[in-house]
Amino acid sequence: MKIFSIVGARPQFIKLAPLSAALAPFHEEILVHTGQHYDYAMSGRMFRDLGIRNPDVHLEVQKDNSTVQVAEMILKLEKEMIRVAPDLVLVFGDTNSTLAGALAAEKCGVPLLHIEAGLRSFNRAMPEELNRVTADHIASYLFAPSPTAVSNLHKEGLTENITLTGDIMVDTLHDNLEAALQFSTMITQLGLKKNAYYLLTLHRNYNVDDAATLVHILSELGKLEETIVFPMHPRTRKMLHPNFEMPRNILLTEPLGYLDFITLEYYAAKIITDSGGIQKEAYLLKKPCITLRTETEWVETVEEKWNLLLNPGAKDLVNPIREFSAPVRQYPIFGNKVAAKMVEAINRIRL
Ligand code: UD1
Ligand code: UDP
Repeated sequence: MKIFSIVGARPQFIKLAPLSAALAPFHEEILVHTGQHYDYAMSGRMFRDLGIRNPDVHLEVQKDNSTVQVAEMILKLEKEMIRVAPDLVLVFGDTNSTLAGALAAEKCGVPLLHIEAGLRSFNRAMPEELNRVTADHIASYLFAPSPTAVSNLHKEGLTENITLTGDIMVDTLHDNLEAALQFSTMITQLGLKKNAYYLLTLHRNYNVDDAATLVHILSELGKLEETIVFPMHPRTRKMLHPNFEMPRNILLTEPLGYLDFITLEYYAAKIITDSGGIQKEAYLLKKPCITLRTETEWVETVEEKWNLLLNPGAKDLVNPIREFSAPVRQYPIFGNKVAAKMVEAINRIRL
């Protein structure tokens, strides 16, 4: 088959890497980058770290207004789909690139496969919720990362062509962890003591777009004794007032390469985040995770008590973070050898 894979944001490059490699012996893949993430640290560096080849098509859509962004992506994607005439379009996750890819595939009449189908936060204040629901309802083929995701799809009346594949990021982490621990020099570079620091990321609209909330979170974290490494997402950097005085225990860095970042996750004592992917990686690496959100798509990590949901608006963030510890017991939630299962399922598709 001729497969048209659409990516645009950092987590999508991470999801693409193992699948793209596994598809190569069987299918022709046309790799399309929408341009949604464009800083070297968010895009080019990920391609380099993960050994992903250069995109065949780069749409260079860089827009701050998400309506204009999605509209421009759809127009450009449609043009490319007509030119390439793919058999199958592949979209990942829940970003604006996912939404644009799904709508363009629908308009062009090309079957759509949605990877990471069935995730729900049930919070419509997140643009991601609309993106993922729309992609699921357009898609002809749904690859679900967890049994909860399958059950969410069933509840919405989607019952056909669902495959419980597990989560593709399991493969990315598995494929790269050994090399990361061997070659990353981040711990020494940042002067960190292994298992004695916390790792922080923040980029959700409701945490960073409101200055008061962002300042509240950082000020609370500033009361902790531990060093907190904080690779700052460009969205957060744009929202943080230049005069804000960062608490002394918070060690700010640029967004890091994947290998450096998973090394920091591996040696962290705790992980504090609002990222979807990082909640999963924390679980896989057996790290207590504090999620600064009121809900999560990855409910199993909370049910298993490895992930604490903490309302970022709560007055006291310090004590819950200090007191949170994870159990010893853990069971595999997200599957394994996921790319191989996905390729098997793709090979079974009869168009
Ligand atoms: C997007 C996804 C989110 C995902 C996140 C991963 C949507 C709606 N959201 O959020 O699901 O978790 O990516 O990181 O698609 N920016 C830069 N340089 C970059 C990238 C972004 O400066 O390389 C700026 C943009 O100009 C924009 C802001 O950051 O002003 C937000 O970027 P955008 O891609 O719209 O959303 P994210 O918050 O990154
Ligand atoms: N990540 C990275 N460098 C960083 C921060 C995160 O490589 O500085 C990786 C992280 O290991 C995970 C992914 O980016 O695999 C998560 O992406 P992000 O938090 O941007 O998006 P989300 O998962 O919330 O959609």
